[in-house]
Amino acid sequence: MIIIGFESSCDETGVALVCTRRGLLAHALHSQVAMHEEYGGVVPELASRDHIRRILPLTREVMTAANVSAEQIDAVAYTAGPGLAGALLVGASVAQAYAWARGLPAIPIHHLEGHLLSPLLAQPRPEFPFVALLVSGGHTQLMRVNGVADYELLGETLDDAAGEAFDKTAKLMGLGYPGGPALSALAEQGDAGVFDLPRPMLHSKDLDFSFSGLKTAVLTRLRNLEKDQGPLSERQRADLAAATEAAIVDVLAAKSLKALKQTGLNRLVVAGGVGANRHLRARLNQAMPKLGGEVFFPPLDLCTDNGAMIAFAAAMRVNAGLVDLTDTRHAFTVRPRWDLHDVCVGGASA
Ligand code: KG4
Ligand code: ZN
Repeated sequence: MIIIGFESSCDETGVALVCTRRGLLAHALHSQVAMHEEYGGVVPELASRDHIRRILPLTREVMTAANVSAEQIDAVAYTAGPGLAGALLVGASVAQAYAWARGLPAIPIHHLEGHLLSPLLAQPRPEFPFVALLVSGGHTQLMRVNGVADYELLGETLDDAAGEAFDKTAKLMGLGYPGGPALSALAEQGDAGVFDLPRPMLHSKDLDFSFSGLKTAVLTRLRNLEKDQGPLSERQRADLAAATEAAIVDVLAAKSLKALKQTGLNRLVVAGGVGANRHLRARLNQAMPKLGGEVFFPPLDLCTDNGAMIAFAAAMRVNAGLVDLTDTRHAFTVRPRWDLHDVCVGGASA
């Protein structure tokens, strides 16, 4: 069975084709980063308009790449939330219209479920159950994943998400948007030991996180240095970037290992945009074998938002018997705020 998936929850338009037996057939992506850059963040109205412009050309692109015709598509999946309402509506209305026109079922997918299952798009695939560290621009969560639609929250951030910590500190340092990749690139040339930054909640007994204090600490260092000596040198900027990245990575790694210990599991899966961070990957790749465990990441290009994870999550739900494929009603709503628990077996919209 072939599923087409649409992602348009924020600033990436993604379309993909996934086969429930053969896996990913093709995916195409357009990032709006360059468009939002001059505003220092995502402008929701511009995002929606751009999704409208991109979504059909991308659809044609994946169908050509996979050599799949419209008649061969059996179901349509789309991100129904969480995300920006106007942006979500673009993917939802294209998906629903397509499904209605061809009499196909439309499958609403929770964006975080897409991220959570995306490491299963790589080889080798992790077996259930595993601990997932979900680190994106909007979320930082540790979860116990027992199977498809069986997710247990172990801990989460009490304030900023890890990606937000990258983005906000990068902005303080004048590094543009989104800050994660830029800060990480600058950090490559720096020495993380020069600045001593806090590791919030590193030793707390729970599996929660807090990153807003880190941003304040970076701001204080910056202000003090600028007061004493004027603008920071390139060397100092790189050192500060490296120290910030090290602080975030230390906390994410330590809490992930703690979650494995608490659950008794030995497989860790990292998903979401921050999962593309080289330092985090290296740290966990080094730590896990020593603990007799394994760590899994999505393919690098599928860490940030994309359509493949949405079509794939739909395929996993179909394979698990969780989708009523005879349901071809097309009343739809998007869920800008949507608790992942709702899509778990027994949840409000499972
Ligand atoms: O998962 P994602 O594409 O979007 C959300 O669902 O939020 O994640 C985007 C986040 C941004 O905060 C971005 O700065 C961060 O992921 N990010 C990174 C890297 N690449 C993306 N953070 C650190 N290092 C990276 N290489
Ligand atoms: Zn995302």
